[in-house]
Amino acid sequence: MALKFITAEEAASFINHDDTVGFSGFTAAGCPKVVPAAIAKRAKEEHEKGNPFKIGVCTGASTGDKIDGELARANAVKFRTPYQSNKDMRLALNGHDAHYFDMHLSELAQTLRYGYLGKINAVIVEAADVTEDGEIILTAGVGIAPTLCGLADKIIVELNAFHPKEIRGMHDIYEPADPPYRREIPIYSPSDRIGTAYVKVDPKKIVGVVETNLENEGGEFSPLDETTMAIGKNVANFLVQEIKNGRLPKEFVPLQSGVGNVANAVLGCMGENPEIPAFNVYTEVIQDAVISLMKSGRVKFASGCSLTVSNEVMKEIYADLAFFKDKILLRPQEISNNPEVARRLGLVTINTALEADIFGNINSTHVTGTRMMNGIGGSGDFTRAAMLSIFTTPSTAKGGKISAFVPMVSHLDHSEHSVKIMITEYGVADLRGKSPIQRARCIIDNCVHPDYKPLLNEYLEMGIKGHTPQNLKCCFAFHQELVNSGDMRNVNWETYK
Ligand code: COA
Repeated sequence: MALKFITAEEAASFINHDDTVGFSGFTAAGCPKVVPAAIAKRAKEEHEKGNPFKIGVCTGASTGDKIDGELARANAVKFRTPYQSNKDMRLALNGHDAHYFDMHLSELAQTLRYGYLGKINAVIVEAADVTEDGEIILTAGVGIAPTLCGLADKIIVELNAFHPKEIRGMHDIYEPADPPYRREIPIYSPSDRIGTAYVKVDPKKIVGVVETNLENEGGEFSPLDETTMAIGKNVANFLVQEIKNGRLPKEFVPLQSGVGNVANAVLGCMGENPEIPAFNVYTEVIQDAVISLMKSGRVKFASGCSLTVSNEVMKEIYADLAFFKDKILLRPQEISNNPEVARRLGLVTINTALEADIFGNINSTHVTGTRMMNGIGGSGDFTRAAMLSIFTTPSTAKGGKISAFVPMVSHLDHSEHSVKIMITEYGVADLRGKSPIQRARCIIDNCVHPDYKPLLNEYLEMGIKGHTPQNLKCCFAFHQELVNSGDMRNVNWETYK
C-alpha cells in the first residue's frame, strides 16, 4: 500500500475534540515534533470560533515543549497521563485545566490494552523509517509506541530524517500477552534481545506521513555543583563498600539511575571509581554519562527506553553506529521498567526524592503535599523490585529554607518498606533492618543538614510513644512554617504543640 505524504496541518485535521491521542517517545527523545503544534493551532482556532477542543494525551513519559508546552498553552488538554515535566503543563494540571493521572510508567501499556483508559483514537509516531507494508523503525525513544500503534484507529507518522535509517537494530520491540496467557519476560541479562527491530502495524491504519528533519529538544545538563558531586561520590563510595562487605556481588549487578543532574553525577563518579567493576545498565533513560562511560569501557551494555542525550552526543552515536549498535537496546517501557525483570536482574536503583521523612518514606511528586511537580515516573517500578534501592537528594532546597527531611512526608510515593538507602551530600543512611526510631536517628545523624538536626532531634525527643513516634499536631509544622514565614528553620515546636 503506497504511503501518503501529508502536511502537519492535514495530519492535525484527523484529530477531533474529545479524542484520546497517543504520542511516541520517552522524555523528549522520540517524540513527534510538528503535528502536536498543528493540533494546538487547530484547538486555538476552534476555541476562537467558540467550539470546544480538548484531547486526552497519552505519552511514554515526559515530552518536549513541542507536545506538552504547545498543547497546554492552547488549553487543548482534557486529561494527561502518565508523566510530565513541563512548566505550562504543570500549571494546567495544578489549576485543574487538565486532569492528570500520575502513573507507574511500566503499567501504562497494559492499562491501555485492558481498556481502563478508554479508546485510543489516533497515534502520532516519530520514525526513522516506515515501509509500505507497515514496518516502523522508531527513533531515540520507544515509550508506549508499539501498544499505541496496535490500539489506535489512525496512525500518523512523522518521518524524521535527522535519525538515520541505519538505527534499525537498536530497538527490541516486545509486548507481553495479557492475562491469563502471560508468560515470563525472557530477559536474563540486560543484553538479551527478545523482540523485533521494528513496530509492525496494519498499513491501512497509516493515514499519512509527515516529513521532518529536526533534532530532539532538551537533553542539556547544568554544570555539576559541589552538592551534586558530593552526592555522586557518596553513592560510589557506598557501593564500593557494599562490594567489599560481600553484600553486592563482585561482578556487580545492573544499575538503574533516574533522570537529571544528580543521576548524571552519580554515573560519572561510579565510572571514575576504579574499585567499581565495568557494569551494565538496565534503566529507562540512557543519559550522556552512560555514553561517555561506554566509550571508556566502564559501561559494557545499556538497556533502556530512550536515548535522552544531548544532540551533540546523539550525533556522535549516529556517526559511530558500528560501535554503539551492539551495546545499546531500546525497549518499550513495559519491558525497560518491568518489576519482574528488575527483581530478576537484581538492580541497584538510584532515584531522587523531592522530600523524605526521617522514617524513610519518600515524596517524589508533590511540593508541600499539594502542587504536582512531575510525577512518579519509573521510580516506583524500580524501587519496589530492586535488590538495593537508593534515594538521593540534596539535604535542603531553596537556599536552605526547605529541609528535604521532615517529620512526615506531605505526600507518599515510596513507603518505608521499599526504601533501603538514603544519600545526601552529607552522607549515607543505611535503613536496612532498622526500626522506625533507629531509621530516624540514622537519617538525622547522616543525611540531614546541620541547620535542621537540632529541630528534628527535638521532634524525636518530645516523648512521643508508639512504634513510629509521630506527633500528629507537629508532624506538618515544617510545611506550615514554610507557608507562614517562608523558612522551615523558623519552626518553634511550642507554637505547634
Ligand atoms: N519542597 C519544595 N520544592 C523543592 C523541594 C521540596 N522539598 N525539593 C526540591 N524542590 C525544588 C527545587 O528547589 C527545584 O526548584 P526550581 O526548579 O524552582 O529550582 C525543583 O524542586 C527541582 O529540584 P532539583 O534539586 O533541581 O531536583 P531534580 O531536577 O533532580 O528533580 C525530582 C527532583 C524529585 C523533582 C525529580 O527527580 C522527579 O521528578 N522525580 C520523580 C520521577 C522519578 O524519580 N523519575 C526517575 C525514575 S527512573
